[in-house]
Amino acid sequence: MVVLSGSNSRPLAEQLAESLNWEHHSLETRRFPDTEGYIRIPSEVIQAVREEPVVLVSNTFPDSGIIETMLMLEAISDVRSGNMDNLKNIGPQDMEDVGPGILLAIPYFGYSRQDKRFYPGEAVSARAIANLLASRCDGLVVFDIHEPKVLEDLSVPVALTSAMPELALHLRKEVNPDFILSPDKGAIDRASEVAKLIDCQFSYLEKTRIDAHTIVHKAKDLDVDGKIVAIVDDMIATGGTICRAADALRSQGAVEVHAACSHGLFTGGAIARLVRYVDGVHSTSSLPNPRDVISGGPALARGVNELFERLGWKK
Ligand code: R5P
Repeated sequence: MVVLSGSNSRPLAEQLAESLNWEHHSLETRRFPDTEGYIRIPSEVIQAVREEPVVLVSNTFPDSGIIETMLMLEAISDVRSGNMDNLKNIGPQDMEDVGPGILLAIPYFGYSRQDKRFYPGEAVSARAIANLLASRCDGLVVFDIHEPKVLEDLSVPVALTSAMPELALHLRKEVNPDFILSPDKGAIDRASEVAKLIDCQFSYLEKTRIDAHTIVHKAKDLDVDGKIVAIVDDMIATGGTICRAADALRSQGAVEVHAACSHGLFTGGAIARLVRYVDGVHSTSSLPNPRDVISGGPALARGVNELFERLGWKK
């Protein structure tokens, strides 16, 4: 069984392959001078792609990740269905169709935040991307998606997986927090799971987002005086949410504040901003970033195993 990756998820694909004890192969990815992408399954990988089911690991972020994912799925689908005809007349032009066997594992689901229509006429982007990808594979494994509801009723089965168990282990070992804080209501499930696993106190803040760069938290008394606190969120983008929550914690006596997330987007100098507010920043490897200290491999492997079972595929 093989794990495949393109240009945006290679380290995590290798971690997944290690967790599953499978082979990993990189697909050839290049850019033409006008920036358009090129994808090819190397000839030495074609047999492995046809032999058994494959898991492609690819992010739909940034935008180029969506196109690359689509092209890789198309190339894999052609190879598995035996559609090999090529102008150079290399190798057999037609082969037997080996049937279904393509899973797409998406570590960071770009566009997941537009999961609702807030104003008439808006595109529900998360749903649009999900439908597009579902039409090109036999199942999806999605890792700590912002709002899981958006993946309900897709045309293929979806396994939702989470790195909160690994994140909790990492925090217990490296930070040993007394208190876990969810910086908004949306992160309560994830952050409270981490608090339970570490067996420490938990609370949450109520956040209002004014615009992409401005957020305010409702004042709340938190029992954090003299305590080490870890703020747990699904993603950190500008860092604004974490910096404001860290302010609230410090003003109530927290002695150490850490930020932990599944998806470290860290846009526009976020890390430089964050280190002025928190003592440590911890992220999984769903996106390559300077703080990706928690392997996402085991979480993705749980999702892959679940889908294999649900689809009745043999490993
Ligand atoms: C929003 O609901 C998410 O869970 C994150 O809290 C948010 O996307 C973080 O963004 P930023 O780092 O820009 O505040």
